[in-house]
Amino acid sequence: MPVYVRAGQLPPKRHIQFRNGAGTLYSEELLSTKGFESVYSLLYHEHPPTAISDVRPWKRSSYALVPNEPLRNRHFFTTRAPHGSDAIDARVPMLGNDDILISIAEFTDAMDYFYRNVGGDELLFVHSGSGTLQTPFGNLDYRPHDYLIIPSGTTYRVVPAEQTRMLVHECRGMVKVPRKYRNEFGQLEEHAPYYERDFRAPVLQAPITERGAFEIRVAHSGRNAIHIAQFHPCDVVGWDGYCYPYAFNVDDFAPIVGQLHQPPPVHATFESPGAAFCAFVPRLFDFHPLAVPIPYNHASVDCDEVLYYVSGNFMSRRGILEGSITLHAAGATHGPQPGAIESSLDKNSTDELAVMVDTFAPLLIAQPAIACEDEAYFRSWMVP
Ligand SMILES: [Fe+2]
Repeated sequence: MPVYVRAGQLPPKRHIQFRNGAGTLYSEELLSTKGFESVYSLLYHEHPPTAISDVRPWKRSSYALVPNEPLRNRHFFTTRAPHGSDAIDARVPMLGNDDILISIAEFTDAMDYFYRNVGGDELLFVHSGSGTLQTPFGNLDYRPHDYLIIPSGTTYRVVPAEQTRMLVHECRGMVKVPRKYRNEFGQLEEHAPYYERDFRAPVLQAPITERGAFEIRVAHSGRNAIHIAQFHPCDVVGWDGYCYPYAFNVDDFAPIVGQLHQPPPVHATFESPGAAFCAFVPRLFDFHPLAVPIPYNHASVDCDEVLYYVSGNFMSRRGILEGSITLHAAGATHGPQPGAIESSLDKNSTDELAVMVDTFAPLLIAQPAIACEDEAYFRSWMVP
């Protein structure tokens, strides 16, 4: 979505006759958003993507989401959550509301089916592991610290090369680059912490022209189905447009630092309806001689803050491990734990890597999160 991309063979105009070497018409598909009024791409298939031979129920596990009550700050050891087999089966919900569902997924198996979420974009953060996202747009290889942005309606499968751990965000709408980072023509501004070169598009592969029975698991806002397609979804000879899956690695995020503490909006990466995403990456600390380099106490009363801890020394938090999630709830004040400010004052930099999502509606808690909760966390600010 950051820029226009074209790949493979394309006819000179859209919506005209376009034939293969045998004289057969390619099958044009429009993948559009907001009906026909937002970004879109045109794909040219060897065979019609509409050829479905069967539709079957897809019974998915469901988890109850309960209110954060009594309202408090919480900490979840998510590495203790169960692992699954493949990238979809392994998703274990942690937190959610009507705008977003946040899950953990740890898996080793390749999906032997395709998956398509048409309820909103997905934002996958790769904590560890590498592999490939296979899509009709081509292959998108992933590595640690990648964000994979997958537009609603994209058909894909995940083929890990090694054990992979992801933080999964299923969003209600589009995942976008914040407007403040774009100029009036859509180009990323000079002050943005990333640049168009930092975004990776899929690499189109030779079309797979097999005929058979290809399973596509379709999800849309709690409605699920298995579609059996007559032709392989990756039979595309060319595509172009603004709507496609892409990757951004947060190691390429150029942090903005200042003389005094910079608030979370300078760490913004993406946004979606009801949610804002940030990345806290290794960076120099504030350079005023009396600067306090870690955050002040605060209660962000209009949003719930979810931090996922990836690596490094999380010096403003006590008892946090890699893979931990903290939920700092609207109305529950939080900040550095006792002693953290004093111990930060002689530091010039941090090696922490954490990613955050703020939600503007209260988050509910999924049962698997409660099962791995550090129940004493809300007391961790007590003064000895
Ligand atoms: Fe906070």
